[in-house]
Amino acid sequence: MKPVTQNQVFVHGLLQWNKQFNNRQMPWKGEKDPYKIWLSEIILQQTRVDQGLEYYNRFIAIFPNIHKLATAPETTVFKLWEGLGYYTRCKNLIVTAKFISEGLKGVFPNKYQDILNLKGIGPYTAAAISSFAFNLPYAVVDGNVFRVLARYFGISNPIDSTAGKQAFTLLANELLDKKQAGIYNQAIMDFGAVICKPQIPLCTICVLNTKCSAFKSGLVNQLPIKEKKIIKKTRWFYYLIVTYNGKQYVRKRGAKDIWENLYEFVLLENDKALPMEQLKTQSQVKVIFGKHPFEVTHISPMYKQLLTHQTIYGQFIRVTTAKALCDKGYEALTPTEIDKLPFPKFITAYLKDKNVSLNLF
Ligand code: ADE
Repeated sequence: MKPVTQNQVFVHGLLQWNKQFNNRQMPWKGEKDPYKIWLSEIILQQTRVDQGLEYYNRFIAIFPNIHKLATAPETTVFKLWEGLGYYTRCKNLIVTAKFISEGLKGVFPNKYQDILNLKGIGPYTAAAISSFAFNLPYAVVDGNVFRVLARYFGISNPIDSTAGKQAFTLLANELLDKKQAGIYNQAIMDFGAVICKPQIPLCTICVLNTKCSAFKSGLVNQLPIKEKKIIKKTRWFYYLIVTYNGKQYVRKRGAKDIWENLYEFVLLENDKALPMEQLKTQSQVKVIFGKHPFEVTHISPMYKQLLTHQTIYGQFIRVTTAKALCDKGYEALTPTEIDKLPFPKFITAYLKDKNVSLNLF
């Protein structure tokens, strides 16, 4: 008889855990409709499950099938996405929905390579859809899988290097239970999320601990390894909320910067913090108002939003003016119209508590 390998012990233990102890429930679990699986996976790409849940339920309620999503006004889709961040996901979601709805007559592709060719779908999402919807033998390799495999097998290859990614993908596909790819893939992700957690893993109750390399060598908190440090840029956004004739000025943000397609108020950007007195004399302010008088009525506290590669600080300055602005693509809208627009989290946070702590200038 052949000896049992470490790989077999891992797979057996994982599937046993899944059968006996895994009671994690999520609406997309066991789902077979590739549209719903795709939607859930796109939402979860950079979002925690507890936060993504609400969005998933709302999207499915409003767009129960791909035609509904493909034919919705784009601003409506962006508004529903508001708060999730990483808006390229939303943009690609719309492109792919239109492509499947119109180009493929609403039939979601059922082959791994065709799924991978869709816009916004990388190897992870293609493997998830292929295995969950069609039980195709492709292993998912996401943050959970990197962590579980790095710890159990004691792998110190950086997960953000090309060689590291290849090594983990190879191992993940060797381990995959090809007869039940969907169940196996969901099991390893759930295991990573509820037992082999990033910060405080539940090693003492883990059914795999006796064979776990990192547990035995005390390296659980050191694995997995990342080689690149993210260098963050800091930006200061001062938003003028300019009111003229009961309307306020907004514009849609363009490409090649954060928050593409989202709306914003009149922006004065700076690479360092600016005292309010200096702000009033900025050349950008002169461009916006010319010689026309304006009055500052309120200034918000400082807001902050952390993005992966940037930190945004900023304040909101309410201004009234006696002359319409005609600058840089801003348009004047009523508060009711503004309510329907998608804004970055940074701005919705302000709009939510704008009645609190307003200091007079
Ligand atoms: N994260 C991404 N996809 C997931 C899924 N299907 N289940 C749990 N967490 C996930």
